[in-house]
Amino acid sequence: MFPKSPEKAAIAARKLSASPRANYVLGEALSKLAEARRSNALLEQAVTTFQKLTEMPGVPQALVLKAANRTVENLRFLGQMGRAVQLQTKLVARLPYVLSLQNQLAVSYLMMGQGKRAKTILKQVLKERPEDGFALVHLGFILKTEDQEYKEAISLLQKGLATREPGVVDGRFYFHLGDALARTGHNSQAMEVYQEGVEQGVFNSVYQRSLYNVQGLKAQPWWDPMTTTYRESFRILESRWKEIRDEALALLSQDQSRFRPETEGLQDTGDWKQLELFARGMKLTKNCQKAPKTCTLIEFMPDAARCKRGQVKFSLMNPGTHVWAHTGPTNCRLRAHLGLVVPPGEEIALRVANTTRHWQEGKVLLFDDSFEHEVWHHGPSMRLVLIVDFWHPELTAAQKRTLSPI
Ligand code: LMR
Ligand code: MN
Repeated sequence: MFPKSPEKAAIAARKLSASPRANYVLGEALSKLAEARRSNALLEQAVTTFQKLTEMPGVPQALVLKAANRTVENLRFLGQMGRAVQLQTKLVARLPYVLSLQNQLAVSYLMMGQGKRAKTILKQVLKERPEDGFALVHLGFILKTEDQEYKEAISLLQKGLATREPGVVDGRFYFHLGDALARTGHNSQAMEVYQEGVEQGVFNSVYQRSLYNVQGLKAQPWWDPMTTTYRESFRILESRWKEIRDEALALLSQDQSRFRPETEGLQDTGDWKQLELFARGMKLTKNCQKAPKTCTLIEFMPDAARCKRGQVKFSLMNPGTHVWAHTGPTNCRLRAHLGLVVPPGEEIALRVANTTRHWQEGKVLLFDDSFEHEVWHHGPSMRLVLIVDFWHPELTAAQKRTLSPI
């Protein structure tokens, strides 16, 4: 019952606000309400409530840690990484023997793009507890993705994953362990890691290893363009291919500056550049000014132009190029390649899962790039294609509207 007199109510409220448990419950209630109302202001109140709890005297340590976790989670969601790090640094100083606090501080640094700081902290944790699974997989992840120290990364990731500790069974760690193994020539071991990832439920299949998925979408490496709902778009691309090619060639002869080398570390050897026209469902106006005909044509294909999980781009590849086997981020798109300049021969190839195909000028190849694919070009002269991503045909209008951009 709520006390009737204001004095009693004030005393009750003070007691309540002095109670750590009550604050925790209040913090949770505020978080839930914030989520339901999609309100950052309420989430901010939840943060203050949880944070206050971490600063109250005499609170049992387990509750401090729970509250700290929730504060950090919410601050990360709000994008306030600086504040998260500040709180976490204080807590680490106060409870230096609680290694999970240090691990979480490292994750915050990692999320801020400060891999070096994260690394230092994780190494510190491993000095204290060499078998700490969380620290092992995170340190391995950084060494793989930022430093290309594959050998060391492999050993850390393997050891960390084997612990099965909370937080280690995560697609990213299987993904990069397999990738590091494949890139160092251990293909069959990579496949075993992917198989384990499938068994742990982090991948759809050994070949389909995208991590941002909508479950239940039809999944096959190669698609026949003319039997999809987009066949009309593919007919248009194929009938207008020469105009598209000529626009790209004119551009290449005048100004190659907007063609950018690929930045995700996918290229093993050679020379591979791309000019993006659409990305994340938006037209890139400056680049489209350089290729107006192609962009206008794409505008008439809303499932490509507005595909928030894809791109439209010219892709230029020179002889001597090898693109490592890799997997796209999402199963929500299908990737069309329209051949524009394709030297004849079998030395220029695209493998998707276990089938290899070759481009042809004026023809569309259609594949699902959430399946592992690999490209090599050992032909005599440049290869040029237009890449057009379309929403996966089975997505609903509501899904296309609400899926986050990639
Ligand atoms: C890819 O989409 O990863 C490659 O196929 C790109 C390309 O230009 O071949
Ligand atoms: Mn790719």
